[in-house]
Amino acid sequence: MNQSSATAIVILAAGQGTRMKSRLPKVMHRLAGRPMVRHAQAVGETVKPALSVVVIAPGMEDVARAVAPAQTVVQSPALGTGHAVAQARPLLEGFEGTVLVLYGDTPLIRPETIQRMVAARQGEGNPAVVVLGFQAADPGAYGRLVLGADGGLDRIVEFKEATPEERAITLCNSGVMAIDGRHLFSLLDAVGNANAKGEYYLTDIVAIARERGLKTAVVEGEEQEVLGVNSRLELAGAEAILQDRLRRHWMAEGVTMQDPASVYLSHDTVLGRDVILEPHVWFGPGVAVGEGAVIHAFSHIEGASVAAGAEVGPYARLRPGAELEAGAKVGNFVEVKNAILGAGAKVNHLSYVGDAWVGPKANIGAGTITCNYDGYNKHLTVIGAGAFIGSNSTLVPPLTIGAGAFTGAGSVITRSVEDDALGITRAEQKTVKGAARKLRERNAAAKAAGTYPKPDPRAGGRAQSNNPKGGK
Ligand code: UD1
Ligand code: MG
Repeated sequence: MNQSSATAIVILAAGQGTRMKSRLPKVMHRLAGRPMVRHAQAVGETVKPALSVVVIAPGMEDVARAVAPAQTVVQSPALGTGHAVAQARPLLEGFEGTVLVLYGDTPLIRPETIQRMVAARQGEGNPAVVVLGFQAADPGAYGRLVLGADGGLDRIVEFKEATPEERAITLCNSGVMAIDGRHLFSLLDAVGNANAKGEYYLTDIVAIARERGLKTAVVEGEEQEVLGVNSRLELAGAEAILQDRLRRHWMAEGVTMQDPASVYLSHDTVLGRDVILEPHVWFGPGVAVGEGAVIHAFSHIEGASVAAGAEVGPYARLRPGAELEAGAKVGNFVEVKNAILGAGAKVNHLSYVGDAWVGPKANIGAGTITCNYDGYNKHLTVIGAGAFIGSNSTLVPPLTIGAGAFTGAGSVITRSVEDDALGITRAEQKTVKGAARKLRERNAAAKAAGTYPKPDPRAGGRAQSNNPKGGK
């Protein structure tokens, strides 16, 4: 731990985020399918830290779980950003590398930017503190970076304490800092709380470092990447920026998006070359789509893999564990969950395929349902290679439909069907001459006589509660 080239990250996440008006801690709100704090952490991890520490408030067990195996320290009460970093002392005492401080609510920083910060911290002049600054279009309440005559950073002044001249400075503090571990805690020890907010400001370590003759420096980032999320509106703004980045990335990798703005990607979506995404496709976490696959409009996909040349949708839903092998096809109003569809298998219309293995080239007719759940347990349906499942088949597993087997349309199949056999359970058809006309006449007469008033659903509830055992 005493190599000066080592890094550690400290992520501040103890703020409650009251402006979110939420039961969730602010940093647990999701962007592109994962909590904000995980974005900050993932960026931090690109510098390969020897240690990651997340500062949380009491009761934030969900944050601790989200960032594990990073360690957490609890700050209670929250007395400011300097006080927050000081909580990491038991874990970082004696660490001689660079400590990178990130904010859990600042999820858009690019890895290149923090790599530049670490390089600056360890580079020329060996500054003790490097601050990520940015030129703000509207500096608002950000801390201002006050530069010295030599161009170095003299101090950071918080908005509340800033003079009108200082408030006119547009170079602002993002909050991200890279600090020499050998000086960090001794600098923090010198921070007081005699200021407008009565807090221990991390920002004060800059002036303290200068007083001690240590060097300080500024690395500039873009305003967009240091955006902090404090409200639902800012959350939506951050999401828009992140989605735009993800879409640009995948288009640059050879993916066609006909209407990029309508495609929602997850932070971990993986798309092959020549994938076509039609408008209004939604990706949850854990999706990979292979080369040349087409995802038609209005499909909703999560935890699924779609192999090369497969086709999905329009209006399809792939839930976790759906695996489409090469050239498989899932059509409109089909839901697939925890099921493998072999190469070239087709489920084209209005079906539910859950907890199933479907062999290559099998064809599942419209309206087929796997009745995978008995109210307590889930059961496996196996459909052999090249099998043909008739429309509106109801498959009640556990069972196996053999390779090349058929099921008759409308059948309720409760037992396995061997290879090349036909399973059919339909009642025989009867045709009763003239019966339709009689029914029409009877119903029309009842309507004219007002025999059946408009049904009252609440009467049903009353009947149920009067007669809890059911029946009459
Ligand atoms: C801070 C900076 C300001 C900078 C701005 C950028 C200080 C004193 N000011 O101000 O210069 O321009 O960020 O957004 O650092 N936190 C804790 N414990 C605490 C206080 C805060 O964990 O006791 C966490 C918060 O959860 C948040 C981060 O630290 O993730 C920043 O805190 P916040 O109160 O938002 O600081 P600002 O007033 O915005
Ligand atoms: Mg803030």
